Order: sequence, then structure tokens, then C-alpha cells
Amino acid sequence: MGEPLIQVIDLCKDYVMGDNVVHALAGVSLRIDHGEFVAVMGPSGSGKTTFMNMIGCLDRPSGGRYLFDSDEVSTFSSDQLAELRNRRIGFVFQQFNLLPRITALENVALPLAYGNRPRAERKKMALEALREVGLAQRTDHRPVQLSGGQQQRVAIARALVGTPSLILADEPTGALDSKTGVEIMALLQDLNARGITILLVTHEPEIAEFANRVILFKDGRVVKDVHQASASARDRIAGVTAAAIAHGVAAQ
Ligand SMILES: Nc1ncnc2c1ncn2[C@@H]1O[C@H](COP(=O)(O)OP(=O)(O)OP(=O)(O)O)[C@@H](O)[C@H]1O
Ligand SMILES: [Mg+2]
Repeated sequence: MGEPLIQVIDLCKDYVMGDNVVHALAGVSLRIDHGEFVAVMGPSGSGKTTFMNMIGCLDRPSGGRYLFDSDEVSTFSSDQLAELRNRRIGFVFQQFNLLPRITALENVALPLAYGNRPRAERKKMALEALREVGLAQRTDHRPVQLSGGQQQRVAIARALVGTPSLILADEPTGALDSKTGVEIMALLQDLNARGITILLVTHEPEIAEFANRVILFKDGRVVKDVHQASASARDRIAGVTAAAIAHGVAAQ
């Protein structure tokens, strides 16, 4: 076994709605090691996003324990939580969540604004992150001037720019066509190969294939947790290309 990055023990989250209490997380215990690539699946309303919000320290649990890299997160102050979020965790969302009025480069540099790095260094780091996602030629484009897949790449560069230990991605391919979705998975696999732990939510079994482990939620609980040999998204892209060429040749 590797070193644990995330450990949750009997994690609970209740939402009180008038007289009703929704047990969005009803006692989740699991451990995710450094370097894993985990897909979280499960029906709508099963607690996936709630779980991601707890792991990303966007919200506090109602009960249970959460350790990040062996630190007891439940004892953190708001400032410590903000620092953990900013320095150790990158976020990627279904709808990209880029700011529309600023360029790709400025969007990527945004998380660096919280530190006290000089402007020139921030720009250099953002440029490097855009290069890593293959968008060095699109730095001055605003989000509307980019395709959906390119916007998601900018969002991944923004998640990457602070050199996080963990990337949390809630349905990162949900707004993309399946080919672009596989390309985004290839990029996430490349980042994972460099040591970044990835936790992603998906509804699509074809996307979950690219993870090393699949955790299934139901009614706020983990009902299945399996390790698997992951498919290679790069091989899939190459295979599709080869098949398209073969098909093109056959059609002539
Ligand atoms: N802010 C909130 N206030 C009250 N109830 C909430 C809140 N957020 C989530 N819930 C409830 O908690 C449960 C889990 O919601 P969650 O968003 O985690 O589901 P999910 O698995 O991400 O679903 P989906 O696949 O539709 O995104 C649902 O019953 C939902 O209605
Ligand atoms: Mg959700």
C-alpha cells in the first residue's frame, strides 16, 4: 500500500430543510493513496458532489473525521482551510467555471493571486500550465473564443498552476462530446502519471474505465469500491484514429 493522501472515517453531512433532514453523506469511510486515479459513480442525489465538496474543503462535514496528508482537517480554521484549498487542491467543474471577460492566461493565473508572487512570475507559471495542456497558442483568447474542450483544458491548467497534490473534477466531461471527453481523460491520465492524485465524478462507464479505482455511492454511502486495470485514453485516441483511417481506406 502507498501513502494515504485522503482518509475519511464515518464522514456525515446532513442538510436540514425545515422539518426534514437529508443525510447526503451517511457515514463514508475510505482511504485514497497518493497517486491514485479514482472515479466516483452513483445515481443522481447519491452524495457524490457533497463528498467532493467535503474533500475539497468547500464545506464542513456534520460528523466524522477527515485527514488530508495525515493532517486532521476538522480542526483547521477557515484560513487554514483556504490555504489547503489554494495550495494543495485543484478544482475542475462540468461547466468549466472560467471568468468570461478575461483571457485564458489571466484565468489560469487567478489562483496565484492569493500568494505574494511577482506578476511576471505568475504570468510565467500560467503560461507553463497552458503549455502543459497544449494551449500555448491560445493564451490571449477569452473563453467564448475557445471550444468546449479547450475551455476545459484552460480550467485544468488553472487547477494545475499551483502544483496541487490532488485534482478534484466533478463531471469534467459532462458538457463535452465523447471524443473530446476522452482527450480530457488522456490529459488527466498524463497529470496522474506525474504523480497528481485524481478524484473525479462521472456518470459515464466509458469515462470511469480510465481510472484505477471506481467507488460507487448510493444513498450517501459507499456500496462498492473496486480497483481495476485502467484503459489508456491515449491508446483509445490512437485506436480511433487508426480505425477512422482504416474505414476511410475501405470506403475508397
Ligand atoms: N445545499 C443543499 N441543501 C440541501 N440539500 C442538499 C444540498 N446539496 C445537496 N443536497 C441533497 O443531498 C443529496 C446529495 O446531493 P449531491 O449533490 O451530493 O448528489 P450527487 O450524487 O452529486 O447527484 P448528481 O449526480 O445529480 O450531481 C441530495 O438528496 C440533495 O438533494
Ligand atoms: Mg453532483
